[in-house]
Amino acid sequence: MVSLREKPAEWQQKYLAFYSSFLGGIVKDPRAMLVPVDDHLVHRGDGVFETLKCRHGHVYNLGQHLDRLLKSCVRIGLVLPVDRDTLGRIACDTIHAGGDPDCLARILVSRGPGGLSVDPYESIAPQVYIVVYQAKLSFMEHQPEGATCAFSDIPGKPPYFATIKTCNYLPNVLMKKQAVDRDVDFVIGVDEAGHVTEGPTENIAIVTPGGILARPEETALLTGTTLMRGMHLAEALVARGVINGLEVRSITRDEVQQAAEVLIFGTTTDVTAVIQVEEQVIGDGAPGPVWRALHEGLVDELERHPDLRTRVF
Ligand SMILES: Cc1ncc(COP(=O)(O)O)c(C=O)c1O
Repeated sequence: MVSLREKPAEWQQKYLAFYSSFLGGIVKDPRAMLVPVDDHLVHRGDGVFETLKCRHGHVYNLGQHLDRLLKSCVRIGLVLPVDRDTLGRIACDTIHAGGDPDCLARILVSRGPGGLSVDPYESIAPQVYIVVYQAKLSFMEHQPEGATCAFSDIPGKPPYFATIKTCNYLPNVLMKKQAVDRDVDFVIGVDEAGHVTEGPTENIAIVTPGGILARPEETALLTGTTLMRGMHLAEALVARGVINGLEVRSITRDEVQQAAEVLIFGTTTDVTAVIQVEEQVIGDGAPGPVWRALHEGLVDELERHPDLRTRVF
């Protein structure tokens, strides 16, 4: 129990600022970072979200995150309560209020409060909640030797829902639970046809023994902003001869295990090198040249790209 009379609990210390359209402002005391229990986000998972990364005082790739958020809203018939630019400004203001130039911000757009039934029309109006929190080191910063993976048997979401960043993350939660329970760093989803999909909050790509960077089609997975930046950077790697080409196609479990490199992409993980999948060591068991080139490219744009950085501090 956390009483308003006591100081914030230890786990709450990492929450730096919270915006609520319902409250009409920003609070910094984690004990006041509350969402109404009758918001359909809480009792039906009726909402969509995005996670922003702020590095050295600049939000990375804000435009792509806002575009995906808007698309998610449209797909579930949710009308954003403010326009796109205003939402971006509110997010930056909340990050600024948090006072940490290296942080993460979760934007939640909810159906809104108004009752406890499943009927979205009983909600008074959609709401925006933004929580700014401390960033951890990226995966490769705290584990530079690379990641271990296993395949997951949690059934994937149907394509319609897998391609929306909704707050219905139960399959993703169970995948993460499997990773923790099996003592691996990540799990990789597999569809009914035996093709790999994605991780709980990450995209997957492989480098084939022939030097092709391949990623699964986006039919039943979320198109990641990090993956897309990685693929853009990879085009230059073809020209430099680091890889021999790019492909978007179905990828089997066997192909993952026989790959020269296996890569994981996500906002909080950046690009991560996988060194083992189940019992199979990947490549020579160390982060490979394609990982290194993409890592360097992503770090460079995170720190320097003139168009992908929105200044907050
Ligand atoms: C299911 C899922 N796939 C992929 C990703 C990676 O997307 P991004 O690179 O935009 O963070 C995420 C991010 O949270 C996700 O939730």
